[in-house]
Amino acid sequence: MNKMTPILDPDREFINKWEMYKLLTLHSLKNIEIPETRLFTKDSLASMLTDYPLVYIKSIATWGGKDISTVHKNGSFFEWTIQGKEALTFKNFEETYKQIDQFYHDKITIIQRGIPAIRYNGRPFDIRSHLYREMDGSWIYAGDLIRIGGEGSLVSNIGISNGSVKPTDELIALLFPNQNHHFTKDILKNVSLEICKMLDKFHFFTEVGLDFALDQNGNLWIIEVNTDDLKGCPDLELFSLLPDQSVYERIMNQKAKIYDNWIQFMIHSFDDYLKEKAKEQD
Ligand SMILES: Nc1ncnc2c1ncn2[C@@H]1O[C@H](COP(=O)(O)OP(=O)(O)O)[C@@H](O)[C@H]1O
Ligand SMILES: [Mg+2]
Repeated sequence: MNKMTPILDPDREFINKWEMYKLLTLHSLKNIEIPETRLFTKDSLASMLTDYPLVYIKSIATWGGKDISTVHKNGSFFEWTIQGKEALTFKNFEETYKQIDQFYHDKITIIQRGIPAIRYNGRPFDIRSHLYREMDGSWIYAGDLIRIGGEGSLVSNIGISNGSVKPTDELIALLFPNQNHHFTKDILKNVSLEICKMLDKFHFFTEVGLDFALDQNGNLWIIEVNTDDLKGCPDLELFSLLPDQSVYERIMNQKAKIYDNWIQFMIHSFDDYLKEKAKEQD
């Protein structure tokens, strides 16, 4: 592992959305679809809108669903919608590009194909899985849940959209009443673990939260990989919003134990250091 790999942002120590996309595509991860993503330029916007009827536009370093927008090609019209705002319709591509470019002018931005994701009650949802690192360095799968965006939202981040959370099993049963889908918890777990192990080659993260969409066959599509960084970490409080509090309590208890063990470890290491010093002075 090389801590100084250039993909890591030097100020925040995180891997931005564009670098993360490149990492994900470089490693042949199984059982996961990765939506095509490009850096935002006039040419890439034109070409993505030729290939896909819907694209998502987002800055590479924001979070919480902030400043996300979509462009939907509707016949010869382009509909541009910023999260939380009314859609704007443009008659030509030039004007569409100009407006979007102005909005994101000071940020590095990506365009991502709209995932052919299923919705719940007409709302976007995603599966969030959370993993954390044990003292021995291994990854623990803490759990997963479903975040459902509020009415009219483009995103499933619950804060910005006034959304809600549900247990994964409950929503899967509602989405696929005939059980005709490929999704299993094991696939979700294995894919999540594989991504954490892939990240281990680049940086020593301790918390990872993954956002997935589901298509109509129940295949997983990766939307985003969130990690701990110098500014914060993927939100575990989401789990406290589930009807069953036991998942949240278990995670918090396990994490408290790891934290205690670290403190003990540091105290002992310091003790040993003092003893060594004393010996040297004898
Ligand atoms: N390519 C996409 N296709 C479909 N939905 C998307 C796409 N990108 C983002 N979304 C929706 O927007 C939400 C926020 O996007 P994300 O990339 O996770 O940004 P943030 O860092 O702000 O959370 C996702 O959870 C999902 O609901
Ligand atoms: Mg996200």
